[in-house]
Amino acid sequence: MPKPVLLLTRKLPPAVEARAARDYDARLNPDDAAWSRDPAEIARRAAEAGADGILCAAGDAFGAATFAALPEKVRIVATFSVGTDHLDLAAAKARGIVVTNTPDVLSFATAEIALTLMLMAARRAGEGERMVRARAWTGWTPTQLMGVTLEGKTLGIAGFGRIGRELAKMARGLGMAIHYRNRTRLPPELEAGATYHADDASFLGSLDVLSMHMPGGPETRHWLNAERLALLRPGAIVVNTGRGTSVDDTALVAALRSGHVRAAGLDVYDGEPRVHEGYFLQENVVLLPHLGSATVETRDAMGFRALDNLDAVLLRGDAALHRVA
Ligand code: DGY
Repeated sequence: MPKPVLLLTRKLPPAVEARAARDYDARLNPDDAAWSRDPAEIARRAAEAGADGILCAAGDAFGAATFAALPEKVRIVATFSVGTDHLDLAAAKARGIVVTNTPDVLSFATAEIALTLMLMAARRAGEGERMVRARAWTGWTPTQLMGVTLEGKTLGIAGFGRIGRELAKMARGLGMAIHYRNRTRLPPELEAGATYHADDASFLGSLDVLSMHMPGGPETRHWLNAERLALLRPGAIVVNTGRGTSVDDTALVAALRSGHVRAAGLDVYDGEPRVHEGYFLQENVVLLPHLGSATVETRDAMGFRALDNLDAVLLRGDAALHRVA
């Protein structure tokens, strides 16, 4: 029996590609060429390869037009991401194409990056690093780059899913009190002592640090706008490792410029890899290039999880394990 054809849209970690090549007629993208930003090119390559399945990634253009144009033979699209905002799930359903994602395996790594950004923003680590690298450091002084401690402060987690709850565990180790906002209140065993807020005003007004872990999409678009920023206590810190679309960049830049927001740490951007120009002019913002899940261990685990789903559907004819459409 010939192996099913699997089209990989991006270059993936070696162990993941090795497993894909072992079990499939795998069509790799060794140069990581950016063709998966183009719906017509995705459909063309899927047709040319005779793909049974596609292993895609965050940022790929899997909108309605792509799903409509995919050849009949494609039965599953497995994304190498937990986020699904790059995929039109309704369009996939309409075509009867199974879509899967990679939950759980990246929660700890993404929480680590949120914690990194919280600490960097609070302790002005980006500014300090830039100063030393610019050979501009003239020595220790009693008042140089004084930040604020996180110890004893209140962390507000917007989106108390798996990643948000991992961050809560880490932040408790710093002596932070945990508050959260979520679509629904969680059971006590998942809250683990965190304080739930049923409305934005009471949530945002009680925080020293806001960490955002919201999914992308129209429902959360520009959630952190000028009105909600105004509800934060003066001097609050803002961190976003969810999706850049949930922040109104112009409003956040203005809040950083006025000092109403003391500092911010961002890993994701609206329209990334484009970054709002205003951030480059602010010393009090730490900017990372979407590193949330970027550890060797996590990226392998994400690839294996995507392959587990592909295997279920294409090799065994079973139900997908992490089906989102
Ligand atoms: C995801 O998985 O959605 C991330 O944003 C990419 O690591």
